Amino acid sequence: MTAARALLQIEGLNKSFGGLHVTRGVALTLNPGDRVGLIGPNGAGKSTLVNLITGVLAPSSGSVHLEGTNVTTMSQAARVKRGLVRTFQITQLAPTLSVRSQVELAIHERDGSVRNQWRSVDAYPAVRDETQQILRHLHLSELADRRPVDLAYGQQRLVEIAIAMALSPKVLLLDEPMAGVPSGERDIVLKALDTLPPTLALLMIEHDMDLIFSFADRIVVLAEGAVLAEGPPAEIRRHPAVLQAYLGTEAV
Ligand SMILES: Nc1ncnc2c1ncn2[C@@H]1O[C@H](COP(=O)(O)OP(=O)(O)OP(=O)(O)O)[C@@H](O)[C@H]1O
Ligand SMILES: [Mg+2]
Repeated sequence: MTAARALLQIEGLNKSFGGLHVTRGVALTLNPGDRVGLIGPNGAGKSTLVNLITGVLAPSSGSVHLEGTNVTTMSQAARVKRGLVRTFQITQLAPTLSVRSQVELAIHERDGSVRNQWRSVDAYPAVRDETQQILRHLHLSELADRRPVDLAYGQQRLVEIAIAMALSPKVLLLDEPMAGVPSGERDIVLKALDTLPPTLALLMIEHDMDLIFSFADRIVVLAEGAVLAEGPPAEIRRHPAVLQAYLGTEAV
């Protein structure tokens, strides 16, 4: 596969904060339908990598290509418009705006259409219908008029996924979508991820090994900012350098 054909192609990505070299020569390719788990110890640089890919941070060097287009210096918004979407490790929901409104606003943002706040949503039937469809798909219809502050944490994370889906992603990067979700609510988030379009490329950061190994068909291990190993879950489970990074033992 050539660089031009990959959905997302990251090459030689580096990032330093002052003297701290946090991302070191990272290369990564995502194609339609990929389910990739990004793992690594705390501080390995996972969130930084997602920030570099999505344009929250500018890399010190290296490149990000989306469908063959160099997006390395594009704004976050420009990348979102091209289908590069992410969710955050710490929730970014507007706490008191209804679930329905937040999804509608995301659709308007995607389409670059300004919503006239004095007009009812019925003035935008396509937006209303698409919102209903997204909420139904994620089993959120019943909660459409509720505000995130009134929802369980697992449900809040589902709303974040709904907003991300409203942006029509081709690549979706999920930074610890299970963070803070009690174990009893994790299943609904996982089930929701299972229902996303099969052609979507999904990359998920997650610390729960059982969960990420069952979700992903490819695992990328980051340690001290560099890719330590990459491969199918069964291979990564037994990878000596991975065992050493996690367990701090000579596991060879
Ligand atoms: N804006 C910043 N300025 C300075 N240092 C930063 C900045 N952002 C991240 N770092 C440092 O970069 C390193 C990697 O942080 P990052 O948040 O990417 O790790 P992570 O793998 O996501 O960790 P966690 O699993 O705890 O979320 C850490 O040492 C962190 O302190
Ligand atoms: Mg992180």
